Amino acid sequence: MTVKVLFVCLGNICRSPTAHGVFETLVERQALADHIVVDSAGTGDWHLGHPPDQRAAAAALQRGYDLAHLRARKVTQDDFGEFDYILAMDNNNLSDLQLLQPGSYQGQLQLFLEYHPEPQYREVPDPYYGGDEGFNHVLDLVERASQQLLEHLVRQYKLR
Ligand code: 4NP
Repeated sequence: MTVKVLFVCLGNICRSPTAHGVFETLVERQALADHIVVDSAGTGDWHLGHPPDQRAAAAALQRGYDLAHLRARKVTQDDFGEFDYILAMDNNNLSDLQLLQPGSYQGQLQLFLEYHPEPQYREVPDPYYGGDEGFNHVLDLVERASQQLLEHLVRQYKLR
């Protein structure tokens, strides 16, 4: 059994690569990489092929997550045929994905922070035009939601 998870933001250089790197690291630490496949993409195409934003990569590396191998790509309709979970960082990303979603999609298209334990956090704010604290806030939100998402998948698919 393999479950596939796709994180989606606007540019695929700040928030979704952060979620990709953090969640992938948790999956590897729990020796679940044979069961959970992780990817990320953007709804926009300005940064195709680019590595993550240097500020996002530096903030992540400070907490032990290496984002250097990631490259930006745009989300496509084919992703709905591939991924069981498509997790949007904010409501704009979610609306854009809903327009792209085929009627036949059987998976979960939702906000990533549905998995955050505190309901006041539902969107990951775009840190692109702000300072370093924005990138640390993204990491705080992503770490908590990733932990709970992983527990959900382990239960849902009986991965242990
Ligand atoms: P992300 O942040 O969606 O978290 O990757 C952004 C990156 C780039 C731009 C906007 C948001 N941009 O407008 O280029």
